[in-house]
Order: sequence, then structure tokens, then C-alpha cells
Amino acid sequence: MKLIRTKNYEEMSRIAADHVINAIKSNPRAVIGLATGDTPVGTYEALIRDHNHYGTSYKQVHTVNLDEYIGLDKNDPNSYRSFMKTHLFHAIDLPESHAFLPNSMMTDSEEACRQYDESIRQLGGVDLQILGIGQNGHIGFNEPGSSFSMTTHVVELTQNTRQANARFFKQLEDVPTHAITMGIKNILESRCVLLLAFGHNKAEAVAQLLASEQPDETFPASALCLHPSVTIIADEEALVLADKQERRSF
Ligand code: F6R
Repeated sequence: MKLIRTKNYEEMSRIAADHVINAIKSNPRAVIGLATGDTPVGTYEALIRDHNHYGTSYKQVHTVNLDEYIGLDKNDPNSYRSFMKTHLFHAIDLPESHAFLPNSMMTDSEEACRQYDESIRQLGGVDLQILGIGQNGHIGFNEPGSSFSMTTHVVELTQNTRQANARFFKQLEDVPTHAITMGIKNILESRCVLLLAFGHNKAEAVAQLLASEQPDETFPASALCLHPSVTIIADEEALVLADKQERRSF
């Protein structure tokens, strides 16, 4: 794992965007794995600025998102497809048909998961996967206890995760109870992983991740130990506890 320490959120976002832009420059047909949530919003803003000023084109790029809520129509403002439209897709030249998210409106969710894995396979796999991290170490919606051998699957969201995501909804009851998420196996199959973290509330998870030497299913992000190309970009606040603990050298 490579660690890039940044002063703040803006710098984290700019450096993360540079990684994405470089991946697209070296392969204009790159497949980029995307995340939702607060963490990557600044990265997406930086990608839009770059697209406007320097013309990086997404015409041949494909994107695959990590996850989607079950039961929200894709046009629902809280669906992750809407999130991606609002924060990125509306402002770049990515063809709509190149943007993949799990189909969470299919009555047969298991089939939706199978189809998502098949789409990723047909795209030739993910070149660069962007990840945020949950306070409990979740990546995608893979909560503690998830098997690291799972591909795309249905998850029941923990109360903790529903509460954390309730800020986007009118009330907690409106937060869906289930989602479809890429599994840890999918994440490990991507060619490069870029995990972003900022702020004090991620300090514990980041410290635990940096101290992880063995994969441990009680802490999902520890699976990244098994991956040969992981870059963590974290700001000073997210690193406060990691700095205090003895850790491997990066
Ligand atoms: C989002 C996702 C989640 C988030 C994580 C952190 O697609 O898969 O794992 O990355 O919950 O969320 P934020 O960035 O809002 O702190």
C-alpha cells in the first residue's frame, strides 16, 4: 500500500483526480470504478474542472459504480445514479450507456447481481477503483463480517450505515434497508485501487487500515492487504491516529 498524505480535502481531491486523469490518458478506454458519498465529491469537481479546461474526454471511458440502493427508481434524487448525474455525469462527455450501476429495480435482485458481474467481466474488468471508507471499515456496502470471496450481492444495511446516510434523506425511515454492492472479490480484482479518506471521523478506520497486515473479515478494508496496487490518499485529520500508532513504513 502506498500512502499519500495531503494537507486537506482539496488537495486529496486534486491528487485523486490526477490519478483518474492519468489512467484515462494512458488508456482512453479505461474502466473507472466510482463511489458515492461525501468523500469523492471534490474529486469529481476536479475532474469536471479538468474536462472544461483541458478537455480530457470520457467518450470511450466506461464507469462502474460500487453500489446502489434497492427499491429507489434510478431517477429518485437519492439513488446513486442521480448522485452520479448531479456530481459528475452531467458535466462530462461520458455516454449515458457507458455508465454502469447495479440495477436495483429488478424484482430478481440475485439476477441483477449476476448481470452486474457479467457487465464488469464484459468490460474487461476495472482499471482503477475509487473507494471511500466507512467509520467501521466498510468499503462499498461490504459491512464487517462480509465474506471476502463474494462478488456482487444484496446486503441488508446496518443501522449504523443507514444512520450515516440518513443525512441525504428526509428521515431515517426513508433510507432503504437493502442495497446491491460489488463484493470484496470484485474490488480485489480491479487493477488499481485508490482509497480516499478525509476528516477526524475517519481517523480510526484509517489507522486500523494502515495497521492491517492480514485480511480480517471483521474489518472489510483490511482485504486491501491482498491487493498489489493500492494507493491511500488521506488528509492530515484522517491520519491523526495513524500517526500516533506504530505502523508499517510506506
Ligand atoms: C459509496 C460507498 C461507501 C462510502 C463510505 C464513505 O458508494 O460505497 O462505502 O464510500 O460509506 O462514505 P462518505 O464518503 O460519505 O464518508
